[in-house]
Amino acid sequence: MQEKVLIATEKPFAESARKSMVKMFEEAGLKPVVLEKYKDPKDLLSAFSDVAAAVVRSDNVTKEVLEAGKGLKLVVRAGAGYDNIDCASAKARKVIVENTPGQNSNAVAELAFGLMIMIARGKYSGKSGTELRGKSLGVHALGNIGKIVASLGKAFGMDVCAFDPFVDQCVFDDCCATRVKTIEDLYSTSDYISLHIPKTPQTVKSINYDLLSRMKKGGTLVNTARAEVIHEEDLLRIMGERSDVKYASDIAPANAAAFLEKFADRVYFTPKKMGAQTAEANTNAGIAAARQIIAFLKEGKVLNQVNP
Ligand code: 3PG
Repeated sequence: MQEKVLIATEKPFAESARKSMVKMFEEAGLKPVVLEKYKDPKDLLSAFSDVAAAVVRSDNVTKEVLEAGKGLKLVVRAGAGYDNIDCASAKARKVIVENTPGQNSNAVAELAFGLMIMIARGKYSGKSGTELRGKSLGVHALGNIGKIVASLGKAFGMDVCAFDPFVDQCVFDDCCATRVKTIEDLYSTSDYISLHIPKTPQTVKSINYDLLSRMKKGGTLVNTARAEVIHEEDLLRIMGERSDVKYASDIAPANAAAFLEKFADRVYFTPKKMGAQTAEANTNAGIAAARQIIAFLKEGKVLNQVNP
C-alpha cells in the first residue's frame, strides 16, 4: 500500500512550489495529501491520522497532533525555526523532526531591509525620510539569515557590526561584519538592529528593558525572528519613555493595538508572517522538505534532524 505524505500549511506555499512537491511524492510512489488554509486545528489532527510523514510551515504540531498521527514517522518543518513543533513529544513517540536550514534565508533577509526602508521612509506617508547608506547596522546573531543581512547591509553602504557568541571569527570576516563583544554594545551603537535569534526558552522575552533602554538615539529595531523574543511590555514602556525609538516586525506583537494606538508612525507590523513568503523560498524549502521525506521513507536516510 502507498504511504501517505501530508503537506499541511495554514499559510499555503506558492502554487508552483506545492505542485513540484506533489509531483516529487507521486514519482517516488508516495501518496500526497494537501491541507491548506485550514481554520480549525482539529482539521490538522484528522489530517495527521493516517500519514507516514508530513511537511509543515509554522503550523502548530502539538502533542495532540502527534498523538493523532498513529503511523507518523517524520515531520519536516519547511523552514528554519521549529519552535512550532513539540520536539520532545515527537521524540517520545519516536517521530523524527527535521528542518530545512538556509532554504528561505534570502527571502527573510530581504524583508529585513524592506522593513528598515519602510521605517526610514516614514511608512511611505509622503513625509521626507532618511536613507540607509552611512547608517550603522547591528546584526543580532549571525546564522544563515544574519549573514545575508550583514552582506546586504554592506551593499547598502551601511557600517555593519554583529553580535554572536556562538560563531567563529571567520563567520564575521566572511560577511565583513565587525565583531562587537557585548550585546549591550550592539544595541547602543546601531542605528538599525536586525534580530535573528531563534525562539527558545532562553531567548523568549530576552530583548528586555535593560537592552532596549540602551538603544542608540533614533534607533530602529527590526524583528524578522519571532515576536516572542521581545519583552513586549518593556518595549511598550521604552517607546513611551523615548519618542525616538522605532520598531518594525514581521508579524504583530500580541498587544499590537496598544503599539498602533500610541506610536502609529513609529511601528510597522506585517499582517501575516511574510519573511519566507516568496515563490523562491517556498520552492527551495518545499523541495528540500520533499527530498528529505523521500530520502527517509525510501532509503531510511535522516537529514537535518532537530530532535536527536
Ligand atoms: C522560518 O522559521 O523558517 C520562518 O519563520 C518561515 O516561517 P513560515 O514558513 O511560516 O513562513
